[in-house]
Amino acid sequence: MSTVKEILQTMDYGPAPEAKDAVTAWLAKHQPGFRHYIGGAFQAPRDGKLFDVHNPADGSVIAKVAQGSAADVDAAVAAARAAFPAWSKTSGETRARYLYAIARHVQKRERFLSVLESIDNGKPIRESRDIDVPLVARHFYHHAGWAALLDTEFSGLGPVGVCGQIIPWNFPLLMLAWKVAPALAAGNTVVLKPAEYTPLTALALAEICDEVGLPKGVFNIVTGDGETGAAIVNHADVDKIAFTGSTEVGREIRKATAGTGKKLSLELGGKSPFIVFDDADLDSAVEGVVDAIWFNQGQVCCAGSRLLVQEGVAERFYDKLKRRMETLRVGDPLDKSIDIGAIVAKVQLERITKLVEQGRREGAACFQPSAPMPGKGWFFPPTLFTDVAPASTIAQVEIFGPVLAAMTFRTPDEAAALANNSAYGLSASVWSENIDRCLDLAARIKAGVIWINGTNMFDAAAGFGGYRESGFGREGGREGMIEYLTPLKKNSAKDPAKAKLSAEPTASAFEGKPTLDRTAKLFIGGKQARPDSGYSYSVLDAKDHAIGQAGLGNRKDIRNAVEAASKATGWTALSGHARAQVLYFLAENLSARADEFAARLIAMTGAAKKAARAEVDASVSRIIHYAAWADKYDGRVHYTKARHVTLAMPEAWGTMAVSCPDEAPLLGFISLVIPVIAMGNRVVATPAPLHPLSATDFYQVLETSDVPDGVVNIVTGERDLLAKTLAEHDEIACAWYFGGAEGVALVERGSAGNLKATWCEHGARDWLSTEAQGESFLRHATQIKNIWVPYGE
Ligand code: NAI
Repeated sequence: MSTVKEILQTMDYGPAPEAKDAVTAWLAKHQPGFRHYIGGAFQAPRDGKLFDVHNPADGSVIAKVAQGSAADVDAAVAAARAAFPAWSKTSGETRARYLYAIARHVQKRERFLSVLESIDNGKPIRESRDIDVPLVARHFYHHAGWAALLDTEFSGLGPVGVCGQIIPWNFPLLMLAWKVAPALAAGNTVVLKPAEYTPLTALALAEICDEVGLPKGVFNIVTGDGETGAAIVNHADVDKIAFTGSTEVGREIRKATAGTGKKLSLELGGKSPFIVFDDADLDSAVEGVVDAIWFNQGQVCCAGSRLLVQEGVAERFYDKLKRRMETLRVGDPLDKSIDIGAIVAKVQLERITKLVEQGRREGAACFQPSAPMPGKGWFFPPTLFTDVAPASTIAQVEIFGPVLAAMTFRTPDEAAALANNSAYGLSASVWSENIDRCLDLAARIKAGVIWINGTNMFDAAAGFGGYRESGFGREGGREGMIEYLTPLKKNSAKDPAKAKLSAEPTASAFEGKPTLDRTAKLFIGGKQARPDSGYSYSVLDAKDHAIGQAGLGNRKDIRNAVEAASKATGWTALSGHARAQVLYFLAENLSARADEFAARLIAMTGAAKKAARAEVDASVSRIIHYAAWADKYDGRVHYTKARHVTLAMPEAWGTMAVSCPDEAPLLGFISLVIPVIAMGNRVVATPAPLHPLSATDFYQVLETSDVPDGVVNIVTGERDLLAKTLAEHDEIACAWYFGGAEGVALVERGSAGNLKATWCEHGARDWLSTEAQGESFLRHATQIKNIWVPYGE
């Protein structure tokens, strides 16, 4: 007779399928084809085209769905535009009620939505039921709250307009909620395109919007593929694009929207490190790995796909992990007892297979559990590569499948270096029982989300989004709301072309002249440096008389300046208090030379004495303003999951580029450079191209104010040319540009290379007003890192 222990050891799970009748009936009702949801009605595609949607668990076709054409996109954008005036004027409380109603209806249909999601995407029903759909409801509830609080918490800001939202297939309904909830809360209207593999839950949500009586045209769906997505991106009447998906497409979208004035947020790929120190609770860390890389078959942008283990425990950890892998059950997504479901599409399965073959060819050791894969459908076994070379393909490329690449490290320094050895920076997970060590790594890793002794935790109250090529902008929390808001009071100042002080530089102004000794040089690494070209250009007064010469900086000068800025990391490490002291000193020294600076403004721009003096005084005040902020612009603590708090910390970008406007040559420069350095960034600034001498006079103020070498670097010359070089430079993490429309397009397009964040404006601003200072400048000078810390029992 078997003992109880033997029975338990040999016992296998029987199938525990979730019922799918309601979903099957719903799918049948919508044939011969699902239609777009436009202007509150389900509309057939204008050219009648449909495409097939499959069930990844068996490859069968489960639905036909409308393929959106440019005409369908037009209709949806027109509906969203028509709905915008009324919707944006509803009270926050009214919008809160709609969002609340959507949340309630999602909860009422939780089972239906979970089953539909699992059939469409292939994810285990346990995940869609316990994670995706509850979080969808949570997002609508949370943002109902923001709608109600909008007037007080985001005063001075209002909706952007019509938002085009393009989402991926890995969390179809959850990504919809991440995007739609904040957009509607802020008073925007939406045209959403779900991914072509997984459009069904979005269409089910459209029915919910109908049920709750959401006004027609506020939320629209056009289904289709990448072409449909591109039609939304390129539509002239769309004000903002929010995209989640591959870095490749994100880069295309950055290029396509450059210079169009569309607001943009990108949530892209990752290759996130999962770091296990030798003092970690190894059994917990093994469970962490399971969640990190086998959750949703590894098709998660923030999947912990690079395992970094401290050398001394590596073998033991791999053994434990392999044993655990043997117990993972791969199979029918609707079976409640399976752990790993199907891969979303055949092409994705092929991509994963190819990358795994590449891993084997590269010489890494490959482990897969012994259980056979299901006979039909698109499945891939959990896979562990060990002995992976850090530079190999499988350690660098986002595989987007259940494949883990493991490497070892010896010291925390090595762990940090390996963790950051990636073009991405979405998330990281750090495991150690030593909290000092965890927090040290959290500070050093360049990623938007860090989980300490945990992984893949999400909540609507916490921002989510990446550093580096993982994109920019955040979703969730306060930061996420900001992405859907814009200043209410649009700049009403005059057109730059007509403004007296803001004419664009003419080519002739930059005709090179050999450098004279009295020519203002560049300012690089704390030293005045001759321009590499050896040329300078004439600086003219209001009557076109030459009043001086400024160096004509080029690509090489920019390279030197960026190098100097990149080295000045000590500035970033200083406390806010220490930086504030330097800024106060700077203000004091500028103030002592106010007459001289006013005289220079008069000479360059022909400004009246009073106006020139006002500009200098305002510059001094502005420095004091940011000295005040330097130790006060701090983060927040979010209460997210039980037994956790999430620290939202604004961090300096590192090395930033700032291109300054011609109007207000001194104040414009100060208004941009000072908040940037107040937050701990180092900067390469290109001053007003027509009137650069206020900035070059400022070298001496910098030299006498304890500003460390390399913190502020100034390169004079053709602003747009220099701005383009800066935008294309990989060491620059964020570029600001305040100049002409053409320059904006150059910078936004140039930034696509490493997907750096940009803040670009054209059109004159009133630099004297208090709107030209304050939190929005500080916000653009920082990015938020969200650190999830265990807290309490
Ligand atoms: P994708 O980036 O092509 O698809 C995401 C969405 O963008 C879909 O809705 C698609 O229709 C749309 N799209 C495609 N081309 C577009 C264009 N030119 N303009 C506007 N929209 C466009 O991703 P795909 O091809 O499905 O997957 C390929 C790889 O991308 C994956 O293996 C994975 O590495 C990565 N990926 C990353 C995601 C993430 O969350 N970070 C999500 C999906 C894919």
